[in-house]
Amino acid sequence: MGTAVGIDIGGTGIKGALVDLATGELLTDRIKIPTPAGGTPDGILATTVELVTQLQVHDPDAPVGVCFPAVVKHGVTLSAANISKKWIGLHAEKMFEEALGRNITFANDADAAGYAEASFGAARGIDGVAIMTTLGTGIGTAILHNGVLVPNAEFGHLEIDGHDIETRASNAAREREDLSWTQWAKRLQKFYSALEVYLSPDLFVVGGGVSKQHEHFLPLLTLNAPIVPAVHRNNAGILGAAALAVRTIPPLS
Ligand code: BGC
Repeated sequence: MGTAVGIDIGGTGIKGALVDLATGELLTDRIKIPTPAGGTPDGILATTVELVTQLQVHDPDAPVGVCFPAVVKHGVTLSAANISKKWIGLHAEKMFEEALGRNITFANDADAAGYAEASFGAARGIDGVAIMTTLGTGIGTAILHNGVLVPNAEFGHLEIDGHDIETRASNAAREREDLSWTQWAKRLQKFYSALEVYLSPDLFVVGGGVSKQHEHFLPLLTLNAPIVPAVHRNNAGILGAAALAVRTIPPLS
């Protein structure tokens, strides 16, 4: 199975580590560098190159996976909800490959987190549809069917009660509006109930830093499917980006 470098680019920090792909364990300390002000492509590129260079010292041949908070199709970043608009339409994967002088895998951050939970965490071995949701600055979502990722689900932007739901139900919205757990859970209830209507999942996994405090809000939700905290929380993006870098597509049967 081997090792891979996983890099998770976020609005406040760029984090990375070398990952053991058999176990999902970090083989190095997690390195975190603050995201350069403005989150522009040039600044993020330079910081990511610095991080990969530091990590590759441990294993120069390790494949590299990078995840990013935007829709990513065929290596092109197509949205920018909480980052610089300069990313829209950029051939990001190629840009990183040229700067690093090697091939990389570039993916959406929630997709990476979902893939990590399906490979090494709360959604491992689930028979059916697991939905990963990350509650942070925005709301990220990922769909996994029997462990296979359907990329670029953007349900954090569902319109509910006339609002883009991530502006009302993200963890940033909870903090910004100083919502009680009960007030926040009412908004989350609408979000997860809508996902049940559209997707009939077998499991919800909830990630993001706030999932550490899951006992304050998950028991307040009433859903058909079980809803559980992510196992990897802050490391899920790193693990998933690393795992996606060596993903083998199952043969068609
Ligand atoms: C973006 C998603 C991303 C999520 C979490 C949303 O605003 O549209 O692509 O996965 O934030 O970072």
